Amino acid sequence: MKILITGSSGQVGTNLALKLLEREEQILGIDRRDNSWTDRIPLIKRDIAADGMSSIADLPPDFGKPDLVVHLAANAKVHELVENPRRAHENATTAFNVLEFCRLNQIPIIFSSSREVYGRPAPPTVAENTVNIYDILSPYAAYKMADEMLIYSYANCYDLKYLIFRLSNVYGRYDNDLERMTRVIHVFIDQMRRGEPITIFDRRKNIDFTHIDDCIQGIMLGIDKLMQGEVVNETINLSSGSPATLGYLAETIARYLDVTPEIIDEPIQPGEISFYIADLTKAKQLLGFNPQISFEEGIKQTVEWSAEYIS
Ligand SMILES: NC(=O)c1ccc[n+]([C@@H]2O[C@H](COP(=O)([O-])OP(=O)(O)OC[C@H]3O[C@@H](n4cnc5c(N)ncnc54)[C@H](O)[C@@H]3O)[C@@H](O)[C@H]2O)c1
Repeated sequence: MKILITGSSGQVGTNLALKLLEREEQILGIDRRDNSWTDRIPLIKRDIAADGMSSIADLPPDFGKPDLVVHLAANAKVHELVENPRRAHENATTAFNVLEFCRLNQIPIIFSSSREVYGRPAPPTVAENTVNIYDILSPYAAYKMADEMLIYSYANCYDLKYLIFRLSNVYGRYDNDLERMTRVIHVFIDQMRRGEPITIFDRRKNIDFTHIDDCIQGIMLGIDKLMQGEVVNETINLSSGSPATLGYLAETIARYLDVTPEIIDEPIQPGEISFYIADLTKAKQLLGFNPQISFEEGIKQTVEWSAEYIS
């Protein structure tokens, strides 16, 4: 299978591409940055929002027309996009350019949406059909929803085949490049290691953290089911199914690092959600998804992994 991955230098892209290479699939990445973790992923360096997608004719001849596009490229930090909504708008241009590439070449797409589209969902768990667009809390979420809706319209008008995954706080390997991307788990690990105080924006915020291996398991199942025509045009939650509050996250990291951090409590930041626990019924039924990594085990692995790769 020939798979084009946008955002291949990012956390999910790097892990997915390496997993597909293990399976000896043919991979081509597109990203506007070099990959800082590995040189094993063939890369077209290009800003898809500013320059559009390459045409098939411009792809390496030994690659040719892809069988599938996995579209991961995005400015992916909610709070940063609240401060600079233009970066959220840019995501829509990126998605539009990728969708046009898929439409013109009749290539199916897998798109990484976000649990942020749910805004303020109701406990205890959140199923895919419960989105209420009036609950959208941030420009990042607004454009993820817009990207999803564009995909639904392309499926309707142009018979585009798709799967959409709504991801939630993916963590683990290849995500501690803090100078580029401040993700809560690695910020806490980094600050606790340095003996600095940590700031928690609402200890009670309760979310479904997703270990990268579970995320990749779900996307790989999606790739196979989509390409075999078994699961087509579905929107699916993906997470590890092992939620935790930010307070418990800090406690767990501190336990594995054997430190007692000073904690500064702040209210939740504008645009951020305060609750999300995924209903994974659809992922399990349609894909046979079976998340493996509990929150505690995932955090333990991540603390150990990050000791080797201090950013
Ligand atoms: N990681 C998570 O917790 C999470 C949660 C929900 C949704 N998602 C979505 O999953 C996808 C992958 O997330 P990630 O964690 O790997 O993010 P990431 O920031 O690590 O990687 C995204 C990559 O996209 C590239 N990119 C962005 N805009 C581009 C453009 N216009 N042209 C070319 N490259 C561009 C960036 O350079 C980066 O390497 C994103 O769409 C994100 O919104 C991620």
